[in-house]
Amino acid sequence: MGKDDYGIELNTVNRISKDLISLKKLNIQICIVIGGGNIFRGLAASAKGMDRANADYMGMLATVMNSLALQNSLEKLNVETRVMSAFPIQSICETYIRRKAIRHMEKKRIVICAAGTGNPYFSTDTASALRAAELECEVIYKATQVDGIYDKDPKKYKNARKVKIISYNDYLAMNLKVLDSAAVSIARDNNIPIKIFSILGKNCFKNVYNNKQQYSEIGNV
Ligand code: GTP
Repeated sequence: MGKDDYGIELNTVNRISKDLISLKKLNIQICIVIGGGNIFRGLAASAKGMDRANADYMGMLATVMNSLALQNSLEKLNVETRVMSAFPIQSICETYIRRKAIRHMEKKRIVICAAGTGNPYFSTDTASALRAAELECEVIYKATQVDGIYDKDPKKYKNARKVKIISYNDYLAMNLKVLDSAAVSIARDNNIPIKIFSILGKNCFKNVYNNKQQYSEIGNV
């Protein structure tokens, strides 16, 4: 959204693309799972009375729009990408097939996974943990609106402290809401660390990779 209240702000998309490209230049294979909250939030709509499954499907369609925007931006910067949707929308992009996604990454393409897991009731976080597990990713980067995990809500408590690292089980026991529990359980069972950081700053991905930006980690302590 950038500074906008809604939708896709192209300067922000381009900034994120450049940041991803600088990470890719370090010879890192990248698979992106993209959310859709800037366009439509399934959970919020269901809270207002919409059928949850329907609302979630609309959210999944929003992730397809974001994926195409990111693909467009990355390819204008001369990086090959493939958008792969969890459900078939063949006129728009290919359908996600695990072995093809791996092959695309081997060919140095950035794989953009659209449409979550393809199922309602599963979040984008859960989709990223699932893709990370099946594609044998070494780490999950959650680039988001908050700059990490706090021991209590920083909006309510002035003395809330940012957590540098927290174990999967402690995170789950504290019922924290930065990532949902299904995502963290999959990451735990497959031993994949999750790094949470703000997407708002320039070069956030590369800075987290080089330890030059603060983040919180859920992992083995
Ligand atoms: P390699 O042959 O392994 O190098 O992969 P490739 O992705 O270049 O080959 P492919 O012939 O599968 O795809 C060529 C182009 O068509 C790429 O831009 C794909 O993203 C796109 N493409 C492949 N399958 C589909 C599909 O089912 N739907 C849509 N809309 N595009 C597709």
